[in-house]
Amino acid sequence: MKEVFLKACRGIRTDYTPVWFMRQAGRYMPEYQKIRQKYDFLTMCKTPEIAAEVTLQPVKVLGVDAAILFSDILIPLEAIGLKVEFIEEKGPRVSPNIRTVADLKFIGELNLEKIDFVFEAIRILIKELNVPLIGFAASPFTLATYVIEGGSTKEFLNTKRFMFLEPEGFHKLMSLFTSATLKYLNEQIKTGVHAVQIFDTWAGILSPFDYEIFVKPYVKRLIESLKTVPVIYFSSNTAGLINHLKELNSDVLSIDWRIDIKDATDLLKDQPLQGNLDPLTLLGTEEELFKRAEKVLIGARGAKSHIFNLGHGVNINTSVDKLKKLVDFVHEFKFMEG
Ligand code: CP3
Repeated sequence: MKEVFLKACRGIRTDYTPVWFMRQAGRYMPEYQKIRQKYDFLTMCKTPEIAAEVTLQPVKVLGVDAAILFSDILIPLEAIGLKVEFIEEKGPRVSPNIRTVADLKFIGELNLEKIDFVFEAIRILIKELNVPLIGFAASPFTLATYVIEGGSTKEFLNTKRFMFLEPEGFHKLMSLFTSATLKYLNEQIKTGVHAVQIFDTWAGILSPFDYEIFVKPYVKRLIESLKTVPVIYFSSNTAGLINHLKELNSDVLSIDWRIDIKDATDLLKDQPLQGNLDPLTLLGTEEELFKRAEKVLIGARGAKSHIFNLGHGVNINTSVDKLKKLVDFVHEFKFMEG
């Protein structure tokens, strides 16, 4: 198996910079669309052979250094007794919504048997892949936002109302989700994933003060309990939380484009980094794209190690050809000595 990604996860500088992309499997890819025309998204997630095939597509087409399991952060919610749907054009719907301490009764113990399709997909992939497989879960907080709001939102009004009206209840919810997430990730690790990424997409909606109270202790507990494989912590819009991110002790921190990766390396000494190209640079000219990719590569030179990635998922309008050229650019990039 190709080791370069795992080496970088462990803080080892590699001969070339490994690269993979969040949402590397998805609708921007014709091979994905072909399957998606026949099945809805959840059916794809729940059919191990399809999930495995779609996971493999970008590895074959792009030549990336790691695969990420095709699934969704909301999938484990079904294993704690909630209902998850994906409505065309609208996105996810979760029910019932947990908005008060009384609603916590809807959350059951995580039943792994209900989501065995996830582990079956991992078992298939482990046999077929020649690059490491990344498993994942949402952070307890990001998962909570979907359960409280019932889907995607801009304001996070219900989340913050719960947090500030019933802080103890909110802590209980975070505690329940931390245990469930730990159990879910440990089962992925036991089944064979080589690294895990925790998606904290919405951490950036909080003040540093509230991140420290309501999110950090739970993420820290998760990271500390996941010992055997590297843990990548992804968040976005969190440059203002950098002093907290530093203290999470994740093996890798994934950062977005709103911070110069050079500044991040200065502030986060000895921290392996992942990132941080703006995904929408892929919609522009190759000249502008490579200029910015080079800036990321050179900026990250001072980091303990670097895994090239976007600051968020691949956009649906991305050209596969350009993304492939970006992979080649990263692999072939020659750093000037000195
Ligand atoms: O990265 C990968 O290639 C692995 C698979 C993966 C998906 N979602 C597939 C997906 C991963 C790791 C996720 C994580 C995820 N899901 C996050 C965290 C990362 C992020 O993007 O911030 C979040 C917030 C979700 C929830 C989610 N899933 C939303 C809000 C949506 C609708 C938006 C959209 O793009 O349609 C999804 C759907 C989704 N998840 C798709 C894919 C490929 C599109 C499904 C389709 O219609 O084909």
